[in-house]
Amino acid sequence: MRALVWQGINKLAVETVDDPRILNPHDAIVRVTASVSCGSDLHLVGGYVPTMRAGDILGHEFLGEIVEVGSAVTKRRVGDRVVVNSFIACGQCWYCLQGKTSLCDNTNTAPGLNDALFGASLGGCFGFGYTTGGYAGSHAEYVRVPFVDVGSFVVPDGVTDAQAVFASDAVPTGWMGAYESNIQPGDVVAVWGAGGVGQMAARSAMLLGASRVVVIDRIPERLAQVRDVIGAETINYEEVDLQPELRELTGGRGADVAIEAVGLEAHSPGIDGVYDKLKTNLKLQTDRPTAVRQALFGVRKGGSVFILGVYAGFVDTFPLGAMMNKGLTVRTGQQNGHQYIPMLLERIQRGEISTDHLATHTMSLEDAPHGYEIFKNKEDGCVRALFVP
Ligand SMILES: NC(=O)c1ccc[n+]([C@@H]2O[C@H](COP(=O)([O-])OP(=O)(O)OC[C@H]3O[C@@H](n4cnc5c(N)ncnc54)[C@H](O)[C@@H]3O)[C@@H](O)[C@H]2O)c1
Ligand SMILES: [Zn+2]
Ligand SMILES: [Zn+2]
Repeated sequence: MRALVWQGINKLAVETVDDPRILNPHDAIVRVTASVSCGSDLHLVGGYVPTMRAGDILGHEFLGEIVEVGSAVTKRRVGDRVVVNSFIACGQCWYCLQGKTSLCDNTNTAPGLNDALFGASLGGCFGFGYTTGGYAGSHAEYVRVPFVDVGSFVVPDGVTDAQAVFASDAVPTGWMGAYESNIQPGDVVAVWGAGGVGQMAARSAMLLGASRVVVIDRIPERLAQVRDVIGAETINYEEVDLQPELRELTGGRGADVAIEAVGLEAHSPGIDGVYDKLKTNLKLQTDRPTAVRQALFGVRKGGSVFILGVYAGFVDTFPLGAMMNKGLTVRTGQQNGHQYIPMLLERIQRGEISTDHLATHTMSLEDAPHGYEIFKNKEDGCVRALFVP
């Protein structure tokens, strides 16, 4: 089959690779009908999450048709049209039973790799290198889906591929950030990042009763989508002084809830950006935590911060003092969307969550290297590239 493979830092190519096979009775093989780029892939492509090996297949946000099931599969059958959660969960371990499916104790095939960095291992994920088990990704004609009964969800009638595919990752991630921040009716919510994840967090915050939601970014096309499709307010941080602007919007207090959806490659214009670039170039820190710093400053005293952006390791000048003295609650995590996806698919079906506008560029899998180029550089208004194998 054809697949998009990582060949080295910033080197992608479409190659012919072996078809996947059923390896475990709980597996299924899915014929991929849509697979999208995600901001998390950029951390892999650029070598910031350094556990990819040359030849690994990228992609973790996808949808397709089941073409083969293992002997222990009970809920899914050949022909089902399913969206698959990007994280692979067994459904039976202590973490899965608490709903923390991205922390599954059984699906990471290389747990030792995480121990040095994190002191524990996270669950498995498609196309995300050996930090999450080295599973082949979804930018391919076919993909093996382990524990398919747990991780796949039948797409309701009337929901198109371009709508449903985002229920794999961007929608449950955004929902988790808003829902698990315990947003109260009337809250003011600030979201850093107007990519797929930030937009879905903003929409979720609105559905959960926030009175005002403001999304912060600098890319005009993305901010326009936030205003026109999501229905939230925007701040272009290159046009105004961000922190005073946030105070102005919130009666001088700051946001009740701050959601960070930017991640370790944050654009960092100020002096702290120069410092971060220097430290990452010298390998003295792994990540650029600009948006996390801003979120910790922009939230009100006693407020709540959710870090959805992916961070790989260690950072410097983390404002621990602000976090402690302001009495903040900080939550974070990889998405544990298994519990939310059926409800989110229904909301997509009812038109409460719009997703297909994120797929600004639809192309064949053969064009995926170009898709990543424009997605990475935010060229031509690209928010997400959708590949049809
Ligand atoms: N927690 C999870 O399970 C999970 C799941 C999916 C994605 N993610 C992560 O969420 C993050 C966002 O993903 P995405 O697909 O939306 O990515 P994306 O690259 O499409 O969007 C990131 C956005 O952040 C903006 N940005 C950069 N620096 C900024 C700053 N200083 N302030 C405000 N905005 C800034 C960029 O302009 C861009 O629009 C990534 O780090 C990704 O890895 C996490
Ligand atoms: Zn993702
Ligand atoms: Zn588990």
